[in-house]
Amino acid sequence: MFLIKSDLKIAMNRYSSVLLISALANVFIGQAAAADPVNGQSLAAPCAVCHGKTGIANEAIVPNLAGQQEMYLEKSLKDFRSGARQDRRMSLMAQNLSDADIKDLAAWYASLTIEGSVPD
Ligand code: HEC
Repeated sequence: MFLIKSDLKIAMNRYSSVLLISALANVFIGQAAAADPVNGQSLAAPCAVCHGKTGIANEAIVPNLAGQQEMYLEKSLKDFRSGARQDRRMSLMAQNLSDADIKDLAAWYASLTIEGSVPD
């Protein structure tokens, strides 16, 4: 009786370890798979009014986003959303973006290529 009980306990411990590992794996795989630049492109339609269709801004006061670092784009959008960074237009634009939207938008703008060159 004692043996069966302890065997059961070991089995249960192993089972919960497997559950824990697969739950953790899901979190990491889920995060890695979250960024979808194609979805980001469609989410960027209203952004293009100011930031341009190619991520090159239409106005001198608006920053270019094409080729910007993904991590920086994500941070900026989260800061506008939380109020840590404020701008009358961007605070409004970021308000309804989910974390997944922000990741996709960041992946889209980061995927646009630009070239840098030093003037002669
Ligand atoms: C009405 C014009 C307008 C629209 C629409 C707009 N933006 Fe902006 N965006 C701005 C301006 C202006 C700034 C600069 C704000 C500042 O001075 O801090 C900015 C800044 C940003 C920045 C920070 C860039 C940097 O270099 O720090 C990001 C990222 C950004 N916008 C993303 C977006 C995304 C994504 C959308 C669409 C969901 C969007 N914007 C829509 C005007 C706009």
